[in-house]
Amino acid sequence: MSEFDAIILGGGAAGLMCALTAGQRGRRILVLERADQVGKKILISGGGRCNFTNIHTAPDRYLSANPHFVKSALSRYTARDFLDLVERHGIAWHEKTLGQLFCDGSARQIVDLLLDECAQGDVQIRCGEDITAVDHADGRFAVRTQTGSWSAPALVIATGGPSIPKMGATGFAYDLARQFGLKVVEPRPALVPLTLGGEDVLFRELSGVSTEVIAQAGRNAFREAALFTHRGLSGPAILQISSYWRPGDPVFIRFLPDQPDGWLPEAKRANPRASIKSLLSHALPERLATALAERIGLQGDIGNLPDKALIAAENRLAKWEFHPNGSEGYAKAEVTVGGISTAELSSKTMEARKIPGLYAIGEAVDVTGWLGGYNFQWAWASGAAAGSAI
Ligand code: FDA
Repeated sequence: MSEFDAIILGGGAAGLMCALTAGQRGRRILVLERADQVGKKILISGGGRCNFTNIHTAPDRYLSANPHFVKSALSRYTARDFLDLVERHGIAWHEKTLGQLFCDGSARQIVDLLLDECAQGDVQIRCGEDITAVDHADGRFAVRTQTGSWSAPALVIATGGPSIPKMGATGFAYDLARQFGLKVVEPRPALVPLTLGGEDVLFRELSGVSTEVIAQAGRNAFREAALFTHRGLSGPAILQISSYWRPGDPVFIRFLPDQPDGWLPEAKRANPRASIKSLLSHALPERLATALAERIGLQGDIGNLPDKALIAAENRLAKWEFHPNGSEGYAKAEVTVGGISTAELSSKTMEARKIPGLYAIGEAVDVTGWLGGYNFQWAWASGAAAGSAI
């Protein structure tokens, strides 16, 4: 059995960051990756350009049972730190929107960066390794795969969450955590399209239509584009809100978010011959304007409609109630909310409080970022925190 200072299970964003950090500190590190190559989710991220961080990273952009947990790691490894690394590797980048930083070229550059940094730390990476057993005795962890056995005094769980099973994602991290008696916060798909049924099903006719809205679930609201799909609702505003949405809850959509209160009575005075549909068509895609006008049901010239009816229509447009009947699930979810409970881990080192030497990082942990580079920043920050400790 070969011996290392630490074994990292999973060669994704968090695992590779942890490996390069520890390797460059002179630690002997082994990464065991089940897939045939490392960083597969990085390669498909950001439409192939990897939205590798967000310059507005802050603890309030993360969901976790303990919202304070992320503070330490995020403050010690910042978006600027990762950007410095990107720039040191000569990777050209741009800000797309809302602080989201993307490669100009390809996500492959980020994987190459991580592999290059790992090589500088003499990290050993073995792909195609299926973990068959993990044992813990006398302060050492022994990991077996179909090809061999390795042991180390530190073991890092970096195998991600179950989102996108087609890519081989599973709940392996949770099973392993439970094996060691660590609690797991019930996982659910997040950053995921929502499906519509019942009366809302008629909106599916609008498949392909997109418009800027404010989407709200509970007390959380996001202003971005929403997209109607043949199954329901998607687009960044919906993906964001999906992380907060619970089955049974309504989602409220504010159409025309820039229209001030009283805009319809105002329009009636300025243009009494207009119809609701023609007014909506000025600001919304034609098909959406038609569908909304039909559902509002006020026919004819607005000059003939009472202000009260116009205000009611305005209020409906500002808080259109949808009742999603579900989500598209892990098959389409970019991330997973929930995971290994932060109550089990040190927020400084990511080490399990009751099992010294055991660490958990990245998406495997009950920390989930907003859409827009926040999840990779958590992977880098938690990976760096554990990599500095092992
Ligand atoms: P990650 O899933 O990256 O890595 C886990 C690794 O462990 C994988 O390589 C896996 O093969 C391996 N593994 C799993 N089980 C194993 C086992 N039993 N034994 C050994 N290895 C095992 N985020 C963002 O910030 N910006 C973006 O642009 C995007 N875009 C995006 C697009 C799509 C389509 C998806 C699905 C996701 C994103 N994300 C994103 C989210 C981001 O990809 C995610 O948060 C990180 O990859 C999480 O990093 P981890 O290293 O924790 O897990």
